[in-house]
Amino acid sequence: MHDNVVNFTYNTPTKVLFGKDAIAGLPAEMAKCGKRVLLVYGGGSIKKTGLYDRVMELLKDFEVYELSGVEPNPRITSVRAGGQICREKNVDMVLAVGGGSVLDCSKIICDAPFYDGDPWDLVIDSSRITKALPLFTVLTLAATGSEYDSAAVITNLETNEKIGVLHPLNFPRVSVLDPTYTLTVSKKQTAAGSADIMSHIFEQYFVDGSCMVTEGLCESVLRSVIKFAPLAYADGNNYTARANLMWASSLACNGICQVGSDVGAWVCHAIEHELSAYYDITHGEGLALLTPVIMRYTLNDKTVKRYAYFAHRVFDLPLQDDLYATAKAGIEALEQFFASIGLPKTLRDVGITQKDKFKVMAEHSCKCFPLHLAFVPLTPEQVCEILEQAY
Ligand code: NZQ
Ligand code: ZN
Repeated sequence: MHDNVVNFTYNTPTKVLFGKDAIAGLPAEMAKCGKRVLLVYGGGSIKKTGLYDRVMELLKDFEVYELSGVEPNPRITSVRAGGQICREKNVDMVLAVGGGSVLDCSKIICDAPFYDGDPWDLVIDSSRITKALPLFTVLTLAATGSEYDSAAVITNLETNEKIGVLHPLNFPRVSVLDPTYTLTVSKKQTAAGSADIMSHIFEQYFVDGSCMVTEGLCESVLRSVIKFAPLAYADGNNYTARANLMWASSLACNGICQVGSDVGAWVCHAIEHELSAYYDITHGEGLALLTPVIMRYTLNDKTVKRYAYFAHRVFDLPLQDDLYATAKAGIEALEQFFASIGLPKTLRDVGITQKDKFKVMAEHSCKCFPLHLAFVPLTPEQVCEILEQAY
């Protein structure tokens, strides 16, 4: 913790249309980019909820092509299929309607027509992204923050890799955030999404130094999720709870909760991406089960103050003279919170019953993320120990 504000550049060029029926403003925004649209969506939730019909009605003056069936943990095969449609139909823009997976997949689809090789090359080396179609999004699940950031996470099942790529060209042009579209999200996805939002904050909050302004933003997002996730979990139709979660999701991952502070190494995400790559588990569930384990593993004289203040400011626990006791109480409170919304506690709870991939996953996580620069630097051997403890 420090009072300093470290240098930063911050530019989030996404226009956000938030609230009930905000989607009505979408056609006018899209009309600025042309007529031919690729509509991308997932496994069918948007058809069940009626959102698909609403979108098609709004796009009546556009020429619409479709890519459906984008998977949770979106596959590079879907990106390839979308990229091909964009080329063949000379598409002007992409409209992604769905959760983070649909949005992430669409981001690389937007890049693909301007690259002559396989789009997987763009995922593993963002310097090959040179131009992108404009992306419009309609979010249906509060979780990843993809609606308001430049990240995309794509899975390649052939190589067992799940890799995140960031590029300024991948910010959505306009994102529609209407909490109404999230009323149908299942309890499981509501809980997982909430854990994901919190984890994005942890990755930026558990760092060497954070400036007071940004620290306060982080704490506010965490407190909001702790208040509203259980309400949305108990009653999916609670609009206020859904609205707070949606705004929390957007702010948690777009950089605003990091600027001015030291940059984190995203330890929990590094390890979770390996779990999803090998076992196709739900991202937020993997994060929820790993977080308390990582916090306990990294609790030491350097981190204790930060973890104790987290307990005090976020969970309102008394700040005791014994900072270790306060920190441990905070970790327990977090664990109980996750359990209260049905999140898994161990790898076995999400069906991972073998330890044979731990070593290779640990090594790959350290290759993809700078874990040697983390709040508590980690080696592949230590990541293996964390996986053992999460088992
Ligand atoms: O496919 P459909 O039928 O739409 O169903 C989805 C899917 O089965 C369903 N769903 C979405 N909205 C719904 C709904 N069901 C009912 N009502 C609705 N309104 O929920 C299931 C999960 O959807 P998915 O998009 O996979 O979830 P999420 O938004 O959590 O996205 C997860 C992906 O995003 C990546 C994750 O790794 C994972 O691949 N991430 C992206 C980030 C980013 N772009 O910044 C950062 C994150 O840390 C994360 O890594
Ligand atoms: Zn995440």
